[in-house]
Amino acid sequence: FESRRAGSALSGKHVIVTAGPTHEPIDPVRYIANRSSGKQGYALAAALAGLGARVTLVSGPTALDCPDGVERIDVESARDMLAAVEGALPADAAVCVAAVADWRSEGVAGQKIKKQKDGLPDLHLVENPDILKTLSALKESRPDLVVGFAAETENVTEHARAKRERKDCDWIVANDVSFGEGGSVMGGDRNAVTLITAEGEVSWPEADKEQIAAQLAAEIEKHFR
Ligand code: CTP
Ligand code: CA
Repeated sequence: FESRRAGSALSGKHVIVTAGPTHEPIDPVRYIANRSSGKQGYALAAALAGLGARVTLVSGPTALDCPDGVERIDVESARDMLAAVEGALPADAAVCVAAVADWRSEGVAGQKIKKQKDGLPDLHLVENPDILKTLSALKESRPDLVVGFAAETENVTEHARAKRERKDCDWIVANDVSFGEGGSVMGGDRNAVTLITAEGEVSWPEADKEQIAAQLAAEIEKHFR
């Protein structure tokens, strides 16, 4: 580790990584969430720290331990995640791996909502802030490199390319969440991605999330050379 760190362009650089799902409360016992184990984001945080970066991991609820040498900030909702990310700035790079819930319930009931004899609770959804888009749109405090992930189930690279433009981020990692039997990416240990930048695209074969993380961390290190 020490020798890899010594010559690393990430040495002393501050990188923010978001990971895991967000939980959007409906009432004290219920929430809206996305499927996400946090494994890919945590593996990336560990890989970046291994290359000498100072890593702030802003994490939604997961069952994972904080990687060695990484500072973790625990959050629940998308709005908490955005506040923690903004509080962690300035940063040289930011990588948004989190599966942020796109919507939250407009009002949070103070007491548990009880089943009604007739009818259903009236859930009104509102859109959550987009952390990746917010980071990309920053002026003075915009990280030099802003990277997003795009989990797609069809037309993966086309959708991801469009997403990179829409979000104004520098790179996007297109994540095919439909590969394998029954979509084994979510919660699984393996992943298959394509890195999309303004310069071009490179596809990495299906591999462990640790290997994908190491490859992406190496690309990020190259960017700072
Ligand atoms: N993201 C974010 N904040 C949000 C939603 C998404 O930071 N509120 C980030 C994710 O962490 C990811 C990227 O944006 O890096 C793409 O997320 P994705 O859900 O694929 O894109 P959306 O724009 O939400 O589009 P959709 O879910 O409709 O495909
Ligand atoms: Ca989304």
